[in-house]
Amino acid sequence: MGCVWVSAHLQADLTLRTVALFVHLASLVLGFGAVLVADYHGLLWMVGRCTLSDILVSTTRLHLPVWTGLAGLVVSGVILHPDLASPLTRTKLALVLLLTLNGLQTGLLSRRMEQGGPTSLPPRLLAWGATTAFISQVCWWGAVVIGFLNGQR
Ligand code: HEM
Repeated sequence: MGCVWVSAHLQADLTLRTVALFVHLASLVLGFGAVLVADYHGLLWMVGRCTLSDILVSTTRLHLPVWTGLAGLVVSGVILHPDLASPLTRTKLALVLLLTLNGLQTGLLSRRMEQGGPTSLPPRLLAWGATTAFISQVCWWGAVVIGFLNGQR
């Protein structure tokens, strides 16, 4: 009887872990996918293929998938039981915290860019935008690489 109980629970744990891992990866596609689209629009603007107001509008529309994806990653990540004793996992969580804070300050950045007029941006805002995109890319790719390395163990 005890064996049946234990095996039923092990099976439930395994199923929950598999579902959580799927949600984790689906959230990664949604969140990071939207971030990549936003940054791609930034690149198009830099080479003159779209206007500043185009990227401000598209970035605003991408907020929902970015934040939904990030929330899905955090919730499914908690269910996956991260090993908090591992320095790599701690680094990953620090990167997630940093990309969240970086994401929060983009609201202010967008407002400043909107106030600046439709065409050229002052160097200060350009540097702010480039730094924001750089921090975002480093944190997202860093978290992906650490997640991948942890999954290999
Ligand atoms: C930007 C956010 C994140 C990204 C890009 C990310 C990425 C990944 C990737 C690529 C994997 C490997 C999946 C596989 O093995 O196939 C993974 C696994 C995992 N992630 Fe995340 N993740 C993020 C956030 C989080 C958060 C916030 C937590 C915890 C609260 C977390 C906990 C885990 C756990 C526990 C695993 C299973 C491997 C392990 O034992 O570490 N992740 N993640």
